[in-house]
Amino acid sequence: MVRKIKPNWIVPAGAEFTEMDKKILYYQNKGCLVPSRKLIKTPEQIEGIRRSGVINTGVLDLVASEIKAGMSTLDIDRLVYDYTVGHGAIPAPLNYEGFPKSCCTSVNEVVCHGIPNEFEILEEGDIVNVDVSTILDGYYSDASRMFVIGRTTPEKQKLVDVARECLEVGMNAARPYCFVGDIGNAIANHAHKNGFTVVRDLCGHGVGLEFHEEPDVEHYGRKGTGMLLVPGMVFTIEPMINMGDWRVFVDEDDDWTVVTEDELPSAQWEHTFLMTDAGLEILTY
Ligand code: MF3
Ligand code: CO
Repeated sequence: MVRKIKPNWIVPAGAEFTEMDKKILYYQNKGCLVPSRKLIKTPEQIEGIRRSGVINTGVLDLVASEIKAGMSTLDIDRLVYDYTVGHGAIPAPLNYEGFPKSCCTSVNEVVCHGIPNEFEILEEGDIVNVDVSTILDGYYSDASRMFVIGRTTPEKQKLVDVARECLEVGMNAARPYCFVGDIGNAIANHAHKNGFTVVRDLCGHGVGLEFHEEPDVEHYGRKGTGMLLVPGMVFTIEPMINMGDWRVFVDEDDDWTVVTEDELPSAQWEHTFLMTDAGLEILTY
């Protein structure tokens, strides 16, 4: 039996045939994975995501100004909740697939999805990822930063810095009509050049109308693989970079907290991006 796979990109009958249709159909006919139409945001949707991103950035700026040794990760969660709700928005993590808090706080060997907790007190030398996601008028944005509590070791500081560079390198690798794999390839090369590894089990993602949309944005891989990225698409890049081995496990007690298998530190930075004709624009700056 020959099964016909419905192509992702369809030009509706009677619609005008644009330059974008031509380019996307070219790649689709070559067998490449191309986006479906719903992944290309309208100008109105982009404005909505942009406004959501402004609040998301406000939350992270607030965390940046308040975070310090002696605070609990639950204190951070309260800042996130109060600021977000105070600005007429909703913290996207809260009750998302059962997640109990308003942001993720991931300290040292925690890779991501750490749950804020009153007993987890930040100490001098800790490196902490605070991952914040906002819903405003139905539009989602998503970003995270690393915070160093006081001063840390040179090794941990380098990990934080290289993880940030990995996000920049990934961003700069993303040109219109490139592939997700071009981003991942650039990120992994930069991490490996610095003696670090890339987490493979978690990835960036389309975002905007939902928290997690297509495509998966892996932070490793081969150039020219994965989905074609075209103007109007909105997605995150959020590399998780490990000091030791790339392998991770999920804490069985809470089914959320992702930890490095070797318990060496991990660092992550994330932005929400819009693909434009000129490359990526940061919507969570
Ligand atoms: N903010 C995370 C991301 O970058 C997702 C967290 S899911 C949650 O995709 F439920 F843990 F919040
Ligand atoms: Co994300």
